[in-house]
Amino acid sequence: MALGTFITFEGIDGSGKSSQARLLAENLQSTGHDTQLTREPGGSDGAEEIRRLLVEGNPDRWSAETEILLFTAARRDHLEKTIEPALASGKVLVSDRFADSTRVYQGAARAALRDVVDLLHAQMIGREPDLTFIIDMDPTAALSRGLARQSGEDRFEDLGLGFQEDLRKGFLALAKDFPDRCHVIDGARDMDVIAAEITEIASDHLA
Ligand code: ADP
Ligand code: TYD
Repeated sequence: MALGTFITFEGIDGSGKSSQARLLAENLQSTGHDTQLTREPGGSDGAEEIRRLLVEGNPDRWSAETEILLFTAARRDHLEKTIEPALASGKVLVSDRFADSTRVYQGAARAALRDVVDLLHAQMIGREPDLTFIIDMDPTAALSRGLARQSGEDRFEDLGLGFQEDLRKGFLALAKDFPDRCHVIDGARDMDVIAAEITEIASDHLA
C-alpha cells in the first residue's frame, strides 16, 4: 500500500494547471510536507521522450487509438519510475495532469473511445489520485493564455475552440463521476487567490 498522497491537476489547455501545481507543491513543501512535482505526458525519462511524439507536429499525426496507446505507455513508465517510488517513500506527489486527461481528451472529446481508455487504465495503470483539482475556465480566455506562450507544443491547442469547449464539459462531467476526489476550482481569478483556496483544501486533506 502507498504511504504518500497523490494529488493531480486537470483542466483545459491554458487554464493555469501548471502554475497552480507548482504553487501547491511550493506551499506544501514550505509547511513541512515532503513534496515532489511531476507532469504528464512525461514525468520520467522514457515518458518525456514519448511526450515529444505526442505534443509536437500536425494535429492529425496520430489516430485516436494510437494516441491512447502512446499516452498509456507514457503513463505506465511514469507510474513505475516516478509515481510508485514517490508514494512508497511517503511523499506528497503533485502531478500536472494524469489519467483524467485521457478520459476526457481521448475518451470523450475527440472520439467515443471511453471504453478503450477505461479498459487500458484498469489493465495497465490501476491507480486513482487521492485528490484532484479541476481548474475550470472559459476556453476563449484560456486559449489566448495558452497560445500566447508559443511553446511549440501546441498540437492540442491547434484543434481549436470548439474542441476546448467539449473538453471543458468533459472535465465538469468527470467531476460529477468522481465527487469524492474532485474539486472544481474557478480558474478565472487572481493566481494567488486560486492558490490559497487549493492549498487550504489540500492541507485539510493531509491533516
Ligand atoms: P496550463 O498548465 O493549464 O496550460 P499555465 O499554468 O501554463 O496553464 O498558464 C498558462 C498561462 O497563463 C501562463 O502564461 C500563466 O502565467 C498564465 N496564468 C496562469 N494562471 C493565471 C491566472 N490565474 N491569471 C492570469 N494568468 C494566468
Ligand atoms: P500539457 O503539457 O499539460 O499542456 P497544457 O499546459 O497546454 O495544458 O499537455 C500537453 C497536451 O496533451 C495537452 O493539450 C493535453 C494533452 N493530453 C491528452 O490529450 N491526453 C492525456 O492523457 C494527457 C496527459 C495530455
